[in-house]
Amino acid sequence: MASTHNFRWTNANVRGSNGELLFPPYLVTEKAGLRVGVISVLGPDYKIVTMSAASDEFTVDSPRDALDKYLPELRGKADVIVLLAQLSGKDTRELLLGLGEGSGIDICVESHDPRQYRRINKVGDVHLVAANNQGKYVGQLDMLVSKAGIVEDATLTIHALDKQSPEIKELVDKVKKFEEENKAAGDTRTSFIHPRDKGDDNHRFLGAHSCGTCHKETFQNYLQSAHARAWDSLTTKGQTNNEDCVACHSVGFFHKNGYDRVADAKVAGREALTNVQCEACHGYGTGHDREGSWLAQAKDSCVTCHDQQNSPEFDYETYWAKIAH
Ligand code: HEC
Ligand code: HEC
Ligand code: HEC
Ligand code: HEC
Repeated sequence: MASTHNFRWTNANVRGSNGELLFPPYLVTEKAGLRVGVISVLGPDYKIVTMSAASDEFTVDSPRDALDKYLPELRGKADVIVLLAQLSGKDTRELLLGLGEGSGIDICVESHDPRQYRRINKVGDVHLVAANNQGKYVGQLDMLVSKAGIVEDATLTIHALDKQSPEIKELVDKVKKFEEENKAAGDTRTSFIHPRDKGDDNHRFLGAHSCGTCHKETFQNYLQSAHARAWDSLTTKGQTNNEDCVACHSVGFFHKNGYDRVADAKVAGREALTNVQCEACHGYGTGHDREGSWLAQAKDSCVTCHDQQNSPEFDYETYWAKIAH
């Protein structure tokens, strides 16, 4: 990432396999006659998601130790110090309280929780703001800074990147392409074009109704669950033609004979495989098994959809308890 994107990277507590920090521990930038120091720390309990999945290549030092080490150095070089804290809200507050007043940190940008502060919070003498969700907002902080580098006053404005915002050409092009592709896809007889390499062409998904003819009680439970409404969530967002979404909100998207726009009951006479129905976890109905393999497979299925990005809170015990049958 660092070699393909021309950003200025900084982090004070993540080390690579050679034991060295991956990035410079802090940056100093001159703006409006002010030297602004930026230092960043990552919470040790956050997974580092890499393309190789080899996250144990990295070690993450305690954020407190890293700040104790680098802040004194940075204070000598900067008038104003901004801490980028990739920590939970609770851990950020604990960290700032632990450092105490006079730590040198003037502003802390909390960046893990997708929360939004409309006004500046203060923890001790630190002004706390939040980075917000998925780049959909830009925060503007106006500060009155004394000659001694003290932030005497600060105001916060949150700008939503809505239709009034200046357009970014690359994004506009992407949206146009998406709309173009989905205009064609508005015809329900057009199949998604994506790999369907899982499963077996001789097997079929039969749909929850068919299971319900025998497993009556389980079927009733299923109808009460969020899984039975997963498709509605996409309808609400207008994303039922977006294969990046459909994959986890349907049955067997990557499987032979799995969900497809052409599998709509009205079109093809087949059970519509929208929603996370029984077979999304148990597998092909035509492969009905009573020897236990179906149960093991169902247990393993959760994390194919409940991944870090879409279900960060996922934990088998608590989630299973909500849909137990
Ligand atoms: C095919 C993808 C898929 C699989 C497999 C899957 N889920 Fe889900 N799950 C979803 C989706 C999508 C939602 C969100 C439904 C909605 O739109 O509200 C969800 C929602 C849930 C919810 C509701 C969350 C809440 O807070 O109300 C629970 C509980 C849950 N899943 C448990 C499980 C468990 C346990 C497993 C494995 C046994 C599992 N899921 C397997 C896709 C999946
Ligand atoms: C890798 C699987 C996966 C993909 C891809 C995915 N989702 Fe989900 N989605 C889930 C799971 C799992 C949940 C339930 C999360 C939970 O409650 O822990 C969920 C929940 C949701 C919810 C929340 C339902 C509610 O109100 O609580 C919405 C809305 C949603 N997804 C829409 C989308 C959209 C739009 C896309 C495409 C941009 C998408 N999803 C792509 C798995 C996925
Ligand atoms: C979100 C994934 C998921 C969905 C959806 C789902 N199941 Fe299951 N089901 C499981 C898991 C996981 C187990 C095994 C739990 C265990 O062994 O602890 C299970 C267990 C079962 C069992 C065995 C229960 C027992 O007493 O041993 C039956 C029968 C069953 N499911 C039928 C169904 C039917 C019918 C539907 C649809 C109406 C359905 N399931 C929907 C994941 C799911
Ligand atoms: C004709 C009736 C019938 C239909 C239809 C049916 N089942 Fe079953 N199923 C049974 C019986 C009987 C058992 C064994 C007794 C039991 O565990 O309840 C069973 C067992 C299971 C088990 C437990 C497997 C194990 O290894 O212990 C699961 C999971 C299951 N069914 C899921 C489904 C799903 C999913 C569907 C729909 C695709 C479905 N069943 C359709 C009758 C049926």
